[in-house]
Amino acid sequence: MTKKSLLAVLAILCAMGLMLSLAAPAYGQAKPKDTYILKGAPMGGVKFEHKLHAERAENKCETCHHASKPEKPSEQPQQACTSCHTKTVTPPMKTNTVGAFHKNATATTGNCIDCHKAENAKDKKAPVKCMDCHKKENT
Ligand code: HEC
Ligand code: HEC
Ligand code: HEC
Ligand code: HEC
Repeated sequence: MTKKSLLAVLAILCAMGLMLSLAAPAYGQAKPKDTYILKGAPMGGVKFEHKLHAERAENKCETCHHASKPEKPSEQPQQACTSCHTKTVTPPMKTNTVGAFHKNATATTGNCIDCHKAENAKDKKAPVKCMDCHKKENT
């Protein structure tokens, strides 16, 4: 490839990049990060591998991101849980942060843990004990 055609290719790539970055806000959907550190619990934060988990859920986003509910409608198809499920909730919201991730403080059921139990029955090593998710180092 000549220097000139290389420059032309680069210019086209730059233009495409610019178009994409301008198009993104119009689409109105935040892109998920690969990894989230979910904080709040006194015994430590939870390092949540979003990219890996999307693959584990076979890209079925609705495995974790439920549909919009009337008490607090969603602003986009998938949204950070903690933007609605806060530490303390006021009506009409009922489900606080802990309730969103596991149904109660004993953490025996819930969306995350139900799948982990099912996966562990298939010889995976997914955390079900408090301190296997909550770690002091994730602060
Ligand atoms: C195993 C559960 C799970 C699956 C499957 C999953 N997500 Fe998420 N997603 C989460 C959690 C947990 C968060 C972080 C919540 C928070 O910060 O409160 C999140 C955050 C997000 C955010 C918020 C971005 C931000 O920072 O504001 C977007 C967008 C998102 N996910 C999109 C997707 C898409 C698209 C898929 C399907 C390809 C998907 N998610 C699959 C659990 C999941
Ligand atoms: C746009 C706001 C919003 C977002 C974002 C959101 N939720 Fe909810 N969620 C609600 C509302 C409204 C309800 C019903 C009222 C209640 O239980 O507080 C609810 C209920 C729930 C419930 C209890 C009812 C049930 O289906 O068992 C769980 C668990 C839950 N959400 C988990 C999550 C998780 C996990 C995420 C992120 C992956 C998330 N939610 C993101 C608004 C939201
Ligand atoms: C679709 C099933 C599924 C769901 C839903 C799910 N997980 Fe997992 N998770 C797994 C599997 C499978 C592993 C372990 C994989 C292995 O052994 O390599 C895992 C591992 C983990 C780990 C250990 C580090 C890692 O990622 O390997 C953490 C922490 C974790 N999950 C947190 C969560 C949280 C928090 C939620 C709910 C928001 C959640 N998971 C929901 C399947 C799931
Ligand atoms: C599969 C991973 C996982 C397991 C196992 C787990 N948790 Fe959690 N827990 C989370 C996530 C994710 C959050 C949301 C982030 C946060 O608030 O720290 C959370 C939130 C909490 C909160 C709420 C903190 C707040 O912000 O108000 C408490 C308390 C808590 N967990 C206690 C426990 C206890 C006690 C156990 C064991 C009986 C346990 N968790 C087991 C993932 C887990």
